[in-house]
Amino acid sequence: MPTCIPSPIAWTPSNGVRILDQTLLPGEEAYRDLETVDAVAEAIRMLRVRGAPLIGIAAAMGVAGAAGQRGSGAAGQEALQGIKEACKLLSATRPTAVNLQWALDRMRRRAELAVDAGESLGPALIAEANAIWEEDRAMCRRIGELGATLIPTGATVCTMCNAGALATGGIGTALAPVYTLHESGRSPHVVVPETRPLLQGSRLTAWELTQAGVDCTLIGDGMIASRLRVGDIACVIVGADRIAANGDVANKIGTYGLALAARAHGIPFYVAAPSSTLDPATADGSRIPIEQRDASEVASWQGTRTAPAGVKVWNPAFDVTPAELITAIVTDKGIFPPAEVFRCPLPARRSR
Ligand code: MRU
Repeated sequence: MPTCIPSPIAWTPSNGVRILDQTLLPGEEAYRDLETVDAVAEAIRMLRVRGAPLIGIAAAMGVAGAAGQRGSGAAGQEALQGIKEACKLLSATRPTAVNLQWALDRMRRRAELAVDAGESLGPALIAEANAIWEEDRAMCRRIGELGATLIPTGATVCTMCNAGALATGGIGTALAPVYTLHESGRSPHVVVPETRPLLQGSRLTAWELTQAGVDCTLIGDGMIASRLRVGDIACVIVGADRIAANGDVANKIGTYGLALAARAHGIPFYVAAPSSTLDPATADGSRIPIEQRDASEVASWQGTRTAPAGVKVWNPAFDVTPAELITAIVTDKGIFPPAEVFRCPLPARRSR
C-alpha cells in the first residue's frame, strides 16, 4: 500500500485486532484495540472497520484471536464450538458483503481440520487469518496491474464510496489501478462523490488519495450526472460487495445511479473486485441481501437532527447495478465481461 496511508488493521500484542477507527477520519487518526469477538462485531456493525475485503480480514482475525487468547493449546470439540459461535456472531454483523461470509467459512473449515488433526487451534487460525490478509494484498496488487491497462495516461476517472487501501488488506480494488498508475508517474485525476449518508467518499477516499498525493476533486452525490456531462471523465471505476452469478453487482448505495449516468453519457463503467467477492450461489442481483441501516444515518449528522422528528426514512446501504450497465469486471484473475465473470477461477475455500 502507499506508505503514507496508515494500515487500517494490525494485530495487537495479545492477538487482538487493532483497527484504525474509520468513523473518526479524516479528523482523527485513532486506533482501537479489539480484544474480544464482541468488540470486533461492534466495530464491523458501526463501520469503524469497513469495506468488503477488510471486514472479511477483520472477522477472520477476530476469530483467530479468540482462539489464540484461549492459549496455544486450545483444541478439541469444545474449542471448535466456540469458534463456530464466534463465526455465527460475526457473520450476522453485515449481510451484503460476501467476503465476510467467505472469510468466516474458511476459518470454520480450517478449525474443523485442525480439530480433526489434533492440532491446537490458536496457531492454525492465526496462520489462516494471515493467509486471507496476504492473499487479499496480492489480489489488490494484481487488480491494480490489470485495471491500470483500462485507464489512459493522465485521464480523469470517477469512483464511488471508498474501495481503496482503507477498505482492503492492500492497495484497494477500485483505487488499486489509480495507485499503480501513480507509482509509475501516470497518475489519473480522481473525481470523488461524497457518498451519502456516511460520506465514505469525502471522509475516506478523498483523505487517502490526498495522503498518497493523488490529485482528486470532491463532488456532492447530486452533482454526479452534471459532472459526467462535462465530458472529461474517461471511465468510472467502483468496488463491489457481492457479484452474483449473472454479473449483477451490489455496491454502496448510489452506484446504480452512477452507472445509469455513465451509460447515458457513453462512459465505460468498470467494477474492480477480488475473486473472493464472487458469489456463485446467488443467481442474480435480486437475491442479494441488502443491508438496511438506522434512520438516524440519514436524518441526522453527528447527533444533530437534519430532518423533522419522526419523518419516514429509507436507508439501504447498498444497491444493485445490473450486469448490462457494466462494461467489464476487473478481478485478480483477469478482466471479464460481467456475464462471463464466473470463468474467473474462484479462490481457495480451504487452506489445505
Ligand atoms: O458500507 P461500506 O463502507 O463497508 O461500503 C463499502 C463499499 O461499498 C465498497 O465499495 C465495497 O465494499 C468495496 S471495498 C474494496
